[in-house]
Amino acid sequence: MITSPTHTGTFIVFEGGDGVGKSTQITRSADFLLKAGHEVVVTREPGGSALGTKIRELLLGSEPGSVSDRTEALLFAADRADHVATVIRPALARGAIVLCDRYIDSSLAYQGVARGLGVDQIAKLSEWATDGLTPDLTIVLDLAPEVGLQRAAQVSGTPDRMEQESLNFHIQVRQAFLDAAAVDPNRYEVVDAGADLDEVTQSVLIAVDHVTRAPGGDPS
Ligand code: TYD
Repeated sequence: MITSPTHTGTFIVFEGGDGVGKSTQITRSADFLLKAGHEVVVTREPGGSALGTKIRELLLGSEPGSVSDRTEALLFAADRADHVATVIRPALARGAIVLCDRYIDSSLAYQGVARGLGVDQIAKLSEWATDGLTPDLTIVLDLAPEVGLQRAAQVSGTPDRMEQESLNFHIQVRQAFLDAAAVDPNRYEVVDAGADLDEVTQSVLIAVDHVTRAPGGDPS
């Protein structure tokens, strides 16, 4: 699908609060797309590039309270700049489908809204970091944070620095994703992540299939 003069691939982002099940849905989407014959690149933020893995450790491994809010925002933006330049843009230039676990909307939700740094400022920072690369589709997996945080704790054991934030923080994050989706419904698909796992996958794959089909063309 041709979405801009600078790339020919398709850029799909999965967003949502902690523990909503993004990784499972990304794996299932990747299998679906590989079977259809596409080149698929699965990646994530923070930590999708070589430099990014180091930035991820700084961001998530540090003690709560040890990273100032603005430092945090800049580190996520730095991770994103490197990720876009070294992984995402090259993959899109080859015509691949990129499935990315989190992107700009995570910064808008966590740093812009929940940390209170302001959505406009954080949007400008991310736009600069990415040189304006926007996803073709963003799938928001929506789930009550009470449920998501419990699931995340079951999977990973020790909560990371962000997961240790208050419930109110995570409620704001959830609302921020829903607000972003409401502004641009053509580029977002909100999926109820509390539904049965296969039903969630079904909804995700319909959206993925739709955006990866050539306009008026063949699904493969
Ligand atoms: P991760 O372990 O990848 O969590 P998940 O599996 O839920 O995606 O941790 C990423 C954490 O970093 C998560 O709590 C969200 C947060 N985050 C931000 O605060 N801002 C950002 O821009 C990004 C990309 C992530």
